Amino acid sequence: MNAETPLNLESLQQELAGKNPRTILKAALASFDNIAISFSGAEDVVLIDMASQLKPGIRVFTLDTGRLHSETYRFIEQVRERYPIQLEILSPDHRELEVLVRTKGLFSFYRDGHQECCGIRKVSPLRRHLAQLDAWITGQRRDQSPSREAVAEVELDGAFTTPEHSLVKFNPLTNWTSAQVWDHIEAYDVPYNALHRQGFVSIGCEPCTRPVLPNQHERQGRWWWEDAAKKECGLHAGNLKQGAENA
Ligand code: ADX
Ligand code: SF4
Repeated sequence: MNAETPLNLESLQQELAGKNPRTILKAALASFDNIAISFSGAEDVVLIDMASQLKPGIRVFTLDTGRLHSETYRFIEQVRERYPIQLEILSPDHRELEVLVRTKGLFSFYRDGHQECCGIRKVSPLRRHLAQLDAWITGQRRDQSPSREAVAEVELDGAFTTPEHSLVKFNPLTNWTSAQVWDHIEAYDVPYNALHRQGFVSIGCEPCTRPVLPNQHERQGRWWWEDAAKKECGLHAGNLKQGAENA
């Protein structure tokens, strides 16, 4: 944290309520030095476009599950070359992964649900990485799914904070709609993942993502064989708890 005085999250949240992404990003970068953007390789590239102007050299990380589309890998490299960022690509623990694929094969998520595979390929590497940060920045938006209707501008990360280590999570795009994100991409000539030209809206791993039809909700293309209410992979598990409390 930059300031000598401890950050008052509640008052920062009140100050940032309803604000635009740039204002939220500025506040995040002013409050924390040890902070990084979590980049999925999709339209959350707008965060990198804005934040790299505010803080050239900003840290960005991507969870390389090993199952991303080749278009996504190419796009991630394009972003690395285009922007002044320090990009870290995080890999799963090979021992955990080898046990999973030896015992259950490469497509266990279609039978057992996605939590176990996401746990190994995304959540464990994320937990390891977040343990070294004071705050992280995500591209979550309220309009993305029912489980994200209450995503705050800034919050204490309930899923990854431990008794020894508090972690703050900023969600600068939360007040923006998909249309606003795409306006920004077009207006500022921001590069985007080639999959978006093929009907993909929300993009995750290749076996767990498919294009959506006109007027289908973007999350219908993710883990389509599961209930809408379970469509969080553990990166943003706090959303489901909040959703359950609000239900
Ligand atoms: S997910 O939880 O369903 O996979 P989603 O694709 O909606 O998440 O993305 C929401 C935000 O989570 C992204 O903007 C990004 O901040 C973070 N995120 C998702 N997938 C990744 C990834 N593979 N690497 C890094 N961050 C990710
Ligand atoms: Fe595994 Fe699918 Fe989760 Fe990717 S999205 S980590 S392939 S279950």
